[in-house]
Amino acid sequence: MPSYLITGGSRGIGWEFGRQLASNPDNTVIGLVRNTSATEKKVSEELQGQSNVHVVRGDITDYASLQTAVADTAQITGGSLDCLIANAGAVSHFDAYDPIGVLGEKPGALEEEMMNMFKVNVVGNTHLFNLFVPLIRKGTLKKVIAISSGQAALDMIPRLEIEAASVYATSKAALNTVVAKFSAQYAKEGILFLSICPGMVDTGRYDEATPEQKHRLKKMLDSFVSYAPHFKGPSTTETAIKDVLSVIDRAAVERGDGGTFVSHYGNKQWL
Ligand SMILES: NC(=O)c1ccc[n+]([C@@H]2O[C@H](COP(=O)([O-])OP(=O)(O)OC[C@H]3O[C@@H](n4cnc5c(N)ncnc54)[C@H](OP(=O)(O)O)[C@@H]3O)[C@@H](O)[C@H]2O)c1
Repeated sequence: MPSYLITGGSRGIGWEFGRQLASNPDNTVIGLVRNTSATEKKVSEELQGQSNVHVVRGDITDYASLQTAVADTAQITGGSLDCLIANAGAVSHFDAYDPIGVLGEKPGALEEEMMNMFKVNVVGNTHLFNLFVPLIRKGTLKKVIAISSGQAALDMIPRLEIEAASVYATSKAALNTVVAKFSAQYAKEGILFLSICPGMVDTGRYDEATPEQKHRLKKMLDSFVSYAPHFKGPSTTETAIKDVLSVIDRAAVERGDGGTFVSHYGNKQWL
């Protein structure tokens, strides 16, 4: 009975991870969320309250809540965890359209956003990994997956001149480094730490865009097409997570995957 814990299991990509994993009754699926009652309601309505789905409370910026979440998880699984999917993340609206030089015209706001992204995406996940390693060590799969972003792929940013999402991308690049460092320590114990980008996925991020913002977004999407002519825009969560789960399934320390950063194809093709 493999056990999976997904942070940010309340909605978007995290919800879809839970939904697909729970469709196999052999899996034990645990969603770590900030609002347990809202997610429990969603589980009962949309997943017919499947008995292999559990919800635990946790905020990845609140260390004490993560300690409690580890204890709650151990209660459900009997003291181990096979796979941790660190999906929860802060996605910036501040940096969504403007280049870093324009963001710098509001230095206070830029600094605040950088600290906030770092707190959630980097510091929060570092605490999460440290606290869950003891359960992962007792698991059978021994996998820790960070959901990162191709926005942090350093070969892509200059090549496609991707100006937007600079604060978000910086935090994800730092997360990739955290993952590599955990791998440096734990691969020798057979624990896989791996960063995966799910591709560009429609979770409503650009729903509120103004016509001017849509115009700038189109410029970025056009550059994506120049890189990947098959790219037709953001994929559904269903397609993206099917791909990511297959990458997680194949990935192993023995294959040299530890500490690396790959796409939903399992390589460096980001779109
Ligand atoms: N969508 C894309 O195209 C895309 C591409 C590449 C990577 N990603 C990454 O994929 C992950 C999920 O993205 P998404 O599009 O599904 O985003 P989303 O719809 O904004 O969902 C974010 C999730 O993270 C949770 N979360 C945020 N801060 C948290 C905290 N402090 N503690 C616990 N949970 C927290 C949210 O919980 P609440 O419901 O409580 O707010 C929510 O479940 C993120 O890490 C994102 O960076 C997304």
